[in-house]
Amino acid sequence: MRYHGWMPAPIERLVEDLCREFRRDARAPAAAELLARYALGNEDWRPYSFFDPQHYTRHQIERNAEFELLVLCWGVGQASPIHNHEGQNCWMAVVEGEIDELQYHHAAGSPPVLGRQARLGRGEVAFIRDEIALHVVRSKPGTSGVSLHLYSKPYDACNVYCERTGVIARKSLSYDSIRGRRVETSQV
Ligand code: SIN
Repeated sequence: MRYHGWMPAPIERLVEDLCREFRRDARAPAAAELLARYALGNEDWRPYSFFDPQHYTRHQIERNAEFELLVLCWGVGQASPIHNHEGQNCWMAVVEGEIDELQYHHAAGSPPVLGRQARLGRGEVAFIRDEIALHVVRSKPGTSGVSLHLYSKPYDACNVYCERTGVIARKSLSYDSIRGRRVETSQV
């Protein structure tokens, strides 16, 4: 744990608060509020993050049996594929810039259909799971952005969907850094 004087750093405090919340209730009803409060008031996610000109980057802050907390850096023009969340809960909070979430609905054998679109600013939190929709995440066109993602439970691969044909492929999810240490073999 990193300490600022005698206090845990805000991001460590967030991890502790999330651990407590998931112990209290596995659905973590207070998670969105914890993420929003952290995202609005803190910058100490910065040492855990860096951009890559080729792809958006994924930085693991915490991973345990209940949840995974990640910082994702979205460079100009970078976007996730249309993807699912493996039956898990996913919260996304914006910590810098503006982030777009494009939801898609998919029926077997058909291409995914674009649904709700939202633009989130700093401190705003989105929630998704497979029953709600698939989604694409990207920074606002022409800009970069950074988001904090909470997945419960953690997962290492997901489905990605071709927008034109609806064909589904499996995608492994990797990290560009783990707890501030760069991973050389990342391939988001
Ligand atoms: C990712 O985790 O790589 C994509 C972002 C998301 O699922 O919200």
